[in-house]
Amino acid sequence: MPKAGTARSIYLGLREQIAGGVYLPGDRLPSTRTLAEEFGVSRTTVTAAFEQLISEGYVSVRQGAKATVARNAPNPIAPPTQRPGGSVKTLSAYAMRAMDLLPHLPGTADLKYDFRYGDVAPDDFPKLLWRKALTAAVIARRARLGYGHPAGSPVLRQALQGYLWRARGIRCQAEQIVVTNGSQQALDLCARALLNPGDRVLIEEPCYAMARNVFVTLGAQATPVACDDDGLKTDRLPDPLSHALAFVTPSHQFPLGGVLSVGRRRQLVEWAEAADAHVIEDDYDGEYRYDVRPIPPLYLSGRDRVIYIGTVSKTLSPTLRLGYLVLPEALVEPFVRCKQITDRHGATFEQEALASLIETGAYERHVRKMRRLNSVRRTAFLDAMQQTFSDKVEIVGTSAGLHVVVWFNSIGRREESGLAATAREAGIGIYPISRLFSCDTERRAGFVFGYASIEARKIADGVKLLYSVLTL
Ligand SMILES: Cc1ncc(COP(=O)(O)O)c(C=O)c1O
Repeated sequence: MPKAGTARSIYLGLREQIAGGVYLPGDRLPSTRTLAEEFGVSRTTVTAAFEQLISEGYVSVRQGAKATVARNAPNPIAPPTQRPGGSVKTLSAYAMRAMDLLPHLPGTADLKYDFRYGDVAPDDFPKLLWRKALTAAVIARRARLGYGHPAGSPVLRQALQGYLWRARGIRCQAEQIVVTNGSQQALDLCARALLNPGDRVLIEEPCYAMARNVFVTLGAQATPVACDDDGLKTDRLPDPLSHALAFVTPSHQFPLGGVLSVGRRRQLVEWAEAADAHVIEDDYDGEYRYDVRPIPPLYLSGRDRVIYIGTVSKTLSPTLRLGYLVLPEALVEPFVRCKQITDRHGATFEQEALASLIETGAYERHVRKMRRLNSVRRTAFLDAMQQTFSDKVEIVGTSAGLHVVVWFNSIGRREESGLAATAREAGIGIYPISRLFSCDTERRAGFVFGYASIEARKIADGVKLLYSVLTL
């Protein structure tokens, strides 16, 4: 059971009551104020629970009105609080902390215009190329069909070494590369290998929630440091001696989009040296830069301190779960051992298929094509926003990546879930930024808009419809 009084426990409680018919479709739910008093928690905690219920389609909130149970509320999966033959008391501290977090659910297909960030368009995937490469890997003659090396397939590590040098200017040995099950496993390995419960980790504010979740589930304490247009504000770095690790997105701060300036890079690496700590560089969308020159990775500023993470989730597809780490030499062996204990190694055929795409140049051609396609989507989105919302919004983080942040100038953050629910009823998915913040300060309502999974020709219609349904 999640701890009483957490957003997660309130979310589960309400969800169970909706599923059990205590509240019927169309029924009004108690106000956030009433629930906050009932549970003895802040309204922010209750709001976080509501936001989750809204984003999963259980609850709808029209702008300015009370929350009601949605007409088509889904049937929930039974809350995972019981194990057959065991009580919840048997859960580890790790599992209990995981249960306290708000879940991060994949999207559903029921929206006409979904600006969900993280998905890519199915038609963009190079199906034929991938099928050919995968088939070649499957039918290749090999001496044995057994377990592989935990660091990954040697051909992929070799191919990635060349790719990283050509595309990102990173010179490393293939032995420093560990192939992972997406960036997510790379983050998990960093936490397992470098953190103990109670350790402190510097994170960005706002931050990639899936990274923060890895650290706090392991029992570490996150120290959020504010970001601006130049990324992490290094004049606010905390006491280095109390920190074991830092997590940053220097090429395109997630979600605000700032690029960490040269001076700040130097300060961050110096801080890590003073702390005798490592910095994780999550280079999740380094392939997508539009009007500006590519930004060299932080890795180049401190090879012994920086752990570089890359992924193909944005260039090919998140379904492949293929990512990689570039490690300082001293960390290779411990990481390889942790990786082997976790899952032995990643899927071999898929790794070999990716290696062959990289070796033949097909991967880089595909990346160039994706950059063109997404540049068209980005222009369509920005033009449509300019024509409709105009100065009612401020859009940041536009020069790179596959998402932007849209701030609604005259609306407060507490309106975010109402706006998202109104949009959802009209078949449009928009996603509040608040869950990416660790601190609950007053600010404008903001949304992370992803545009990589929508057909370019539909984007303007989606934006126009959004404008017509939101009362701004
Ligand atoms: C900041 C950030 N890092 C990494 C990823 C990719 O994660 P993965 O490689 O686990 O699919 C994403 C995907 O949305 C992201 O936003």
